[in-house]
Amino acid sequence: MHSYAAQLGNNPSLSVAELAAVLPDFQKEHLFPGSVVTFKTATELDQAFLNRLGGTIVIAKNIIGDFSVDLEDLPALLAAELKTVKGKATFSLRCFGISPNKVRDLYKTSKQGLKKKGVASRYVGSEREMAKPIQLHDEGILDPKKGCELVILHDKNHLWIGRTVAAQNVKAYTLRDMEKPVRDTKVGLLPPKLAQILLNFGAFLSPRGSKTRSESQNFTVLDPFCGTGVIPMEAMIAGWNVLASDNAQKAVNGTEKNIEWVRKIFKVLKKDVSADVWKQDATKPFELKEKPDVIVTEGTLGPPLTNRATVKDAETYCRQAEELTAAFLKNCAATLPGVPVVMTLPVWYAQKKMIHLTKVWKVAEELGFRPALPPHADPSIPERFSIMYRRNDQFVGREIILLKPKK
Ligand SMILES: C[S@@+](CC[C@H](N)C(=O)[O-])C[C@H]1O[C@@H](n2cnc3c(N)ncnc32)[C@H](O)[C@@H]1O
Repeated sequence: MHSYAAQLGNNPSLSVAELAAVLPDFQKEHLFPGSVVTFKTATELDQAFLNRLGGTIVIAKNIIGDFSVDLEDLPALLAAELKTVKGKATFSLRCFGISPNKVRDLYKTSKQGLKKKGVASRYVGSEREMAKPIQLHDEGILDPKKGCELVILHDKNHLWIGRTVAAQNVKAYTLRDMEKPVRDTKVGLLPPKLAQILLNFGAFLSPRGSKTRSESQNFTVLDPFCGTGVIPMEAMIAGWNVLASDNAQKAVNGTEKNIEWVRKIFKVLKKDVSADVWKQDATKPFELKEKPDVIVTEGTLGPPLTNRATVKDAETYCRQAEELTAAFLKNCAATLPGVPVVMTLPVWYAQKKMIHLTKVWKVAEELGFRPALPPHADPSIPERFSIMYRRNDQFVGREIILLKPKK
């Protein structure tokens, strides 16, 4: 088993749940302040692995064995890691639980230590600000021929030192979020990172999905509320076949255009990944030649809001969403029996209280679905088997639910 550290995104428990969902042998070790988790897995984690995750910013691999080291050993450890560099080396330090003065000191002594060993170097990041993940790519720090970043996690009982092996590629996200041909702000924009997390939960729920990517060929995801297609796009980038539908023709056209764009930009060939998009009311029978492995979808968010809804309005939207979701789940159970569902439900942060769907749980239960959660996902609200996702400025949040068909 290797020990890794993951610097987590804005919703740490969602990020840990995603890691646990994609790594069947995930063993959580310790959660450090600053939202960094250390864990063990036998899988070799690399940039391609991180690219599939929506909730992890940086991954580092532990570089010291069981022998004890302290912070003073850092320059020597860095010099050893930079042995493969020819010419001037670029390094950075990602420190958690260490005072800014000490971090400044570590940068200085590391550079001096390298100089003594005859290694010319420059560094990125400072005691005030860590190197941005995109700098790790742009400055060659992830390339062992050019540089290295050390991650240092420190608290009363732990000192964990590792080397960064992968970092989120912000440019790739901006590209697919902002530059796709069709965006529709009226239906709400699902962040690609959240779409990746939902898809990883979908693969976790499906008996075939937990296999590695090559083994899960022909893995097929259905999004029956596809909008302009963020979930289908992310599924295709992950190498999964896509079935997508929506009852609005405009959405169907938008998804088709976005999918064609993904094929071109990310080189997703038709022979490797199929995609079918059609117009359909998700409460009407699905007539598919073959059942999908999983349904992953963002249900309706209700009307677009520019302010917090009044409680009365939110209650009306909530009733409508309850009806639509119940009819949709009934349809799934009747026409796609045995297929698990990962979906988001809307949550209104109304003027005086939070309003979320309540009846859907009983409906799901009666239809033979069992709510599930990935390991390490703590329910956001006690007694509800779900995880909340919301940016502070949003008037409508999303509640993520995973429904497993009972055998
Ligand atoms: C919140 S949006 C989904 C946005 C989508 N995730 C995206 O990436 O753009 C919900 C979608 O559900 C669709 N919708 C609403 N009621 C529907 C129904 N009964 N059947 C199918 N689609 C429906 C709407 O047209 C809308 O596109």
